[in-house]
Amino acid sequence: LRPKLLAGRHVVLTAGPTFEPLDPVRGLTNRSSGKMGFALARAAADAGASVDLVAGPVALPTPWGVRRHDIETASEMRAAVLSLVPHADVFIGVAAVCDWRAAEIATDKIKKSVDAAPPRLALAENPDILAEVAARPDAPYCVGFAAESSDLLKLAAAKRVRKGVPLLVGNLGQQTFGRDDNEVVLFDADGPRALPRTGKAVLAHALIAEIARRLPRRPPP
Ligand code: C5P
Repeated sequence: LRPKLLAGRHVVLTAGPTFEPLDPVRGLTNRSSGKMGFALARAAADAGASVDLVAGPVALPTPWGVRRHDIETASEMRAAVLSLVPHADVFIGVAAVCDWRAAEIATDKIKKSVDAAPPRLALAENPDILAEVAARPDAPYCVGFAAESSDLLKLAAAKRVRKGVPLLVGNLGQQTFGRDDNEVVLFDADGPRALPRTGKAVLAHALIAEIARRLPRRPPP
């Protein structure tokens, strides 16, 4: 029997969108379904890893054997991730984190008024969780995702360097949010390598194998 690819390893992932409230009933979010991140969490668990999945608001069941931490905002996602990564071998940022949040959250519902102009939104930038984890002295092996609408080869390669991660998974086009299949290009220090379009579950197992073979070997006990 061959040992499982991630036996004895601890993997932390983020998945889904974040939700940034404007007032008690409204907020900013995006169309991420969480399917790719949940498929990767399942594949990591299948590969024998201990898995923590930090998930934004999505309508998906928790994969068997995976510890799930539900959050709403980017700042809650950051806090959950930072509490988990000191013990992790791998961090995979799959979440579509909202780039901005409301500079101030209204405590009461923002009222509509016939004679007043529509409210103006003041936004503040959210923390970049992946870049922050990758910059830690005790950083686990970090993997990022990038969805670009054009010029993937140039933008994703630059993003890998900017985020300081050894491996970045680029989604080809915007044909991924909500879909059950995906087509990606892997970017590492050796350059880009395209994987064929396939279902997210099959792709997740392929990506876990790609990550496992790049992990630094552990010192013998
Ligand atoms: O910069 P961009 O949002 O395209 O980067 C995408 C990658 O960075 C994904 O891996 C995503 O999970 C991660 N990210 C993050 N925190 C942010 C924005 C993106 O961890 N605030």
